[in-house]
Amino acid sequence: MSDTVKFSFAKIPAALEGVVVVLAAEGGEAGGLVLAPEVSALLGAAADTVTRAAQAERFTAKSGKALDLLAPTGLEATRLIVVGVGKPEELKPLDWLKLGGATLGRLSASAKEVGIVFALPGGPVSPEAAAEFALGMKLRAYSFDRYKTKKKSDDAAAKPRVTLYIESDTAAKRAFKKREGVGEGVIIARDLVNEPANVLTPTEFAKRAGDLAKVGVDVEVLGEKDLKKLGMGALLGVGQGSSQESRVVVMRWNGAKNDSAPLAFVGKGVVFDTGGISIKQAAGMEDMKGDMGGAAAVVGLMHALASRKAKVNAVGLIGLVENMPDGNAQRPGDIVTSMSGQTIEIINTDAEGRLVLGDVLWYAKERFKPQFMIDLATLTGAIMVALGTEHAGLFANDDTLAERLASAGQATGEKVWRMPLSPDYDKLVDSKFADMKNTGGRFGGSITAAQFLKRFVGDVPWVHLDIAGTAINSPTSEFNRSWGGGWGVRLLDQFVADHYEA
Ligand code: BES
Ligand code: MN
Ligand code: ZN
Repeated sequence: MSDTVKFSFAKIPAALEGVVVVLAAEGGEAGGLVLAPEVSALLGAAADTVTRAAQAERFTAKSGKALDLLAPTGLEATRLIVVGVGKPEELKPLDWLKLGGATLGRLSASAKEVGIVFALPGGPVSPEAAAEFALGMKLRAYSFDRYKTKKKSDDAAAKPRVTLYIESDTAAKRAFKKREGVGEGVIIARDLVNEPANVLTPTEFAKRAGDLAKVGVDVEVLGEKDLKKLGMGALLGVGQGSSQESRVVVMRWNGAKNDSAPLAFVGKGVVFDTGGISIKQAAGMEDMKGDMGGAAAVVGLMHALASRKAKVNAVGLIGLVENMPDGNAQRPGDIVTSMSGQTIEIINTDAEGRLVLGDVLWYAKERFKPQFMIDLATLTGAIMVALGTEHAGLFANDDTLAERLASAGQATGEKVWRMPLSPDYDKLVDSKFADMKNTGGRFGGSITAAQFLKRFVGDVPWVHLDIAGTAINSPTSEFNRSWGGGWGVRLLDQFVADHYEA
C-alpha cells in the first residue's frame, strides 16, 4: 500500500466498485435520511436496503453519523458507507473538513480503492466543499511511525486511493490543489514536532527548513558567528550550554506583485528544553522535544503560502536553540545584552523562550520593517492552567489583528482567546540589576512573559500566540490523531487568505 492517501476527481459514474461512500442529508418522511436523486439511481435496488437498514437502526443522518453496509446486494461494492451530513445548507468548510476526517477514520487499513459520491438532495456539492473533505482525509491519515520497526497493520490508518465523484470535477481538482499545499504544511509541522531532539538538532531543523526552496521560498541560515555579529546575546545565552550550535533561519516568500512590506511570522524553536541549570523535573520532560512547535508552524505556514502561490509578501523567522545544562551553561543571576541593546537579568534559565524571541522579534522588525509581526511559542505552562488545550492565548498591541485572528480561529477550529496586557503587568519584569528580568513572579505567568516580548516589538503591530497547550499533546479531532497537531498553520493561512491577498 502507498504511504499516503492519493486523490483523483471524476464525474459521477453509472456504477461503482470497492468501498463506496455516499452522503445523506437529515430528514425525510421517516425522519431519517434523504439521498440525492443521483445517489438513489446509482444504488438501484440497494437504495431500498439502505432505507430498511436505517429504519432498523433508527439511523438519522446527523453530521458525522454513518451507516455501514457490507457487500450490499445489487451493488459491485464491497462496502457501502452512508455518511450523514446533517442539514447541507448549514455546512461550513470546517464541517466538511471534519466529515472527511471522520470518513477516513471509518475505513480499515485494508481499504485500497475508495469512491466518494458528492451529491446531496437540494443541489450540487461545491468544489470547495469536496476539496475540504479531501483535506480532512489527508490530515486524518497522517501518522508518525517512522521509528516503528514492526508495523501493526491493524491499527495503522487507512491510506487508500480515493476518487471523489462530483459533477464539477475539474473545479474540485483545482480547489484541492490549493488546499493540498496547506495540508502538506500541516504535515511538515507535525513531523517537526514529533521528531525527537537527538535527530532534530538546530542544524538539522535548519536543513529541513531549507527544503522550502523547492516550493520557491528563499531560505537563509544564520550561524553562531552571524548571530554574535548581530549582537543576539539573549538568544545565544540560551544555547551556550548545548553542544549543538544555535541557528536563526529566515524564510522569504514574495508572492505579491509589488514590493509591499512583508507580513512577519516568528517562531520559538527550542529543539529541547531541559530548563537548563534551573532544570525541570523528570516527569513529562520528554514532551519538551516539542518546544519548537512555534517554529514548526512558521515553516508549515511558509510552505502553505508558497505552494498555493499566495499573493502576499511574507517572511518567517525562527530561533533554533537547545536549552541544556553544562559547564558552560547560563546561570541564574547572569546578565545578557540583547540585540536591542536592552539588558536582561536571568532569574530562571527555564524561562528561555522569551530570550530567544526577544532577539528574533527585534531582528525581524529592524531588517524587514514588516506590516505586522505574529509570533508563535510554546512559551508558558501557565497558559494551559488558564485556557486548557482548546484555545491558544492571544496577546496583542493591535485590536484589528486580534479580531482577525479570532475569526480565523473560529473558521478553522484553531481557536484563540485574548489575554490582557498593561503597564501594571509590565512593571513586574523590571529588574534590580538590569533593564528587565526574565520572569515576572508567581502569578500571571503567561501575561508577564508576553509583557517581556512586548519590549522587543517597538511600535510594530504585533500578536503573540502562546501555544503551549495546543501545539504539543494536541487535542485529538476528526482530522488529527497526532501528538504534534501542526497547530497554527491552518489558522494563519486562513488569516492571510482572508485579509492580505488583495
Ligand atoms: N517550554 C516551557 C513551557 C511549556 C511547558 C510548554 C509545558 C509546553 C508544555 C517554557 O520554556 C518554560 O519552561 N516556561 C516556564 C516559565 C517559568 C520558569 C517562568 C514555565 O511555564 O514554567
Ligand atoms: Mn523553559
Ligand atoms: Zn521552553
